Amino acid sequence: MNATPPSLPAAPARSVAVVGAGRLGAVLARALTDAGFDVRGPLGRGAAIPAVDTAILCVPDAAIHDAAGVARPHARLIGHVSGATGLDDVDFSIHPLQTFTGSEAPSVFYGIGAAVDGRTPEALAAAEGLARALGAHPFRVDDAHRAGYHAAASIASNLLLAVLDAAEQVAGSVGIGTPEARGILAPLVRQTVANWADRGAADALTGPIARGDEATVARQRAAIASATPALLPVIDALTAQTRTIAERARA
Ligand SMILES: NC(=O)c1ccc[n+]([C@@H]2O[C@H](COP(=O)([O-])OP(=O)(O)OC[C@H]3O[C@@H](n4cnc5c(N)ncnc54)[C@H](OP(=O)(O)O)[C@@H]3O)[C@@H](O)[C@H]2O)c1
Repeated sequence: MNATPPSLPAAPARSVAVVGAGRLGAVLARALTDAGFDVRGPLGRGAAIPAVDTAILCVPDAAIHDAAGVARPHARLIGHVSGATGLDDVDFSIHPLQTFTGSEAPSVFYGIGAAVDGRTPEALAAAEGLARALGAHPFRVDDAHRAGYHAAASIASNLLLAVLDAAEQVAGSVGIGTPEARGILAPLVRQTVANWADRGAADALTGPIARGDEATVARQRAAIASATPALLPVIDALTAQTRTIAERARA
């Protein structure tokens, strides 16, 4: 993430209703206000939607259809912020490629990517304009590719957490409890992610699999089988995938 704000173009004085007062809705409403929009919301479930230029639905994917129907009479353009959902019910989509818990500052959008799409050139331009006003870089993902695009995002964020949680469990099995485990593993995780971002997985890979040290790999597996056997299927799958990365590095 960029620590300093980009030089933003003057935001058009458009009125925007943020529908949905959950994790993203709360942050987006603050950030759009910061960017100079006339923001209504975040509007919780059942709140009246005022007449606005644009309504942005920050609701779960399954609620988009109904929320769009409610917002339609009050807004000229309607968009959603879902990564995987197409444009069946809305004019545009803008999916900020970041994880939000609800408490982040507006700067959380600076320098991130934002997948956009629109049913018309005007709607697409509106999505791109919103992304740029937030300090994000818009890139287009059409309906046919949204599920795959969102799968990549989920692997990078949600499944990464599953891997880190497994590391925490294994550390716990040898007496390194939480929060100490997170404290000592976090610098390793940050450096690994930085190396991957700079060079890709094959060049960033170190450790026993990269070195071909199979005796160590086997001893690690035995330790996991003994202390945290429920993790073995996922560890075996990840080990196999790591071997393919090591082979790519040797090729
Ligand atoms: N959080 C992220 O990291 C993130 C990142 C990128 C994109 N997104 C996208 O943001 C959208 C919302 O995700 P979220 O994480 O913010 O979910 P969330 O924290 O669960 O918030 C969803 C909010 O929508 C409200 N809601 C549900 N149905 C509604 C309706 N018909 N009208 C008005 N409000 C309604 C919910 O209210 P109740 O509490 O009453 O159910 C809740 O406050 C999703 O499309 C998601 O893909 C999220």
